[in-house]
Amino acid sequence: MTGNVIEARGLSKDRVSSFLLRRSPILDGLSLSVKQGETYGLLGPNGAGKTTTVKILVGLMRPDRGEALVLGEKAGAQSALRKIGFLPENPYFYSHLTGLEFLEFIGQLFGLKKTELRDRVKQLLELVSMTVDADKPMRKYSKGMLQRLGIAQSLINDPEVVFWDEPMSGLDPIGRRDVRKILLDLKARGKTIFFNSHLLPDVSDVCDRVGVLAKGKLVAEDEIKNIVHSGGHKDLEEYFLEKVGG
Ligand SMILES: Nc1ncnc2c1ncn2[C@@H]1O[C@H](COP(=O)(O)OP(=O)(O)OP(=O)(O)O)[C@@H](O)[C@H]1O
Ligand SMILES: [Mg+2]
Repeated sequence: MTGNVIEARGLSKDRVSSFLLRRSPILDGLSLSVKQGETYGLLGPNGAGKTTTVKILVGLMRPDRGEALVLGEKAGAQSALRKIGFLPENPYFYSHLTGLEFLEFIGQLFGLKKTELRDRVKQLLELVSMTVDADKPMRKYSKGMLQRLGIAQSLINDPEVVFWDEPMSGLDPIGRRDVRKILLDLKARGKTIFFNSHLLPDVSDVCDRVGVLAKGKLVAEDEIKNIVHSGGHKDLEEYFLEKVGG
């Protein structure tokens, strides 16, 4: 391994239009790397390619060119998948299951044994403040409650690396504060975190470094401390708007 937990080298992905099969880039030679224990925020306007990047990094999508490595393995390799947690942008859950049953199901997929599973599920429900609603079927959950469960399921295997696509989306201010706390706790435990978000104050609070993606290209990348303390920017929003030409 190179010392980087996540490494993207020249990732490109094209969309092919049905008209004349013309190709245009979704990702255009994206390279980035994230070190062990680092929290990295990928920012960018709608349609910039953030979700596409995450999908490639977790092995859900193959790049047309370039390569992605996670924990020294090709993205999507079995050995790496066991050590990552993933929160998709629009998680889908089996609505007839209760939150508790769903987490138990995911834990079983990871091979957790009965007692370990019970303790872990209880702990995760508390972490995302869902203990009280754990026995309700998920069809009765609000958007924010589903999002909390999505975060909980991404942590069931105590992952080394988490990939979260908009973890604060749909959450109320209490939920956002909880997620910030969870992120900081994961960080304190040396986990590597990669996430996308449009909520720049939250990103500013928890990230070590951010990258700005625009039209599939990384147009800026820097440490938060350089941006907001010594970089001459009032805050991350000003930096972001400058970089994407807003
Ligand atoms: N399945 C697909 N087929 C064709 N084009 C796609 C597909 N998925 C995404 N795209 C295109 O790829 C581009 C990047 O999409 P992506 O979802 O990665 O953006 P994003 O940065 O996550 O945006 P958002 O902030 O809205 O979540 C968009 O132009 C989108 O239209
Ligand atoms: Mg997205």
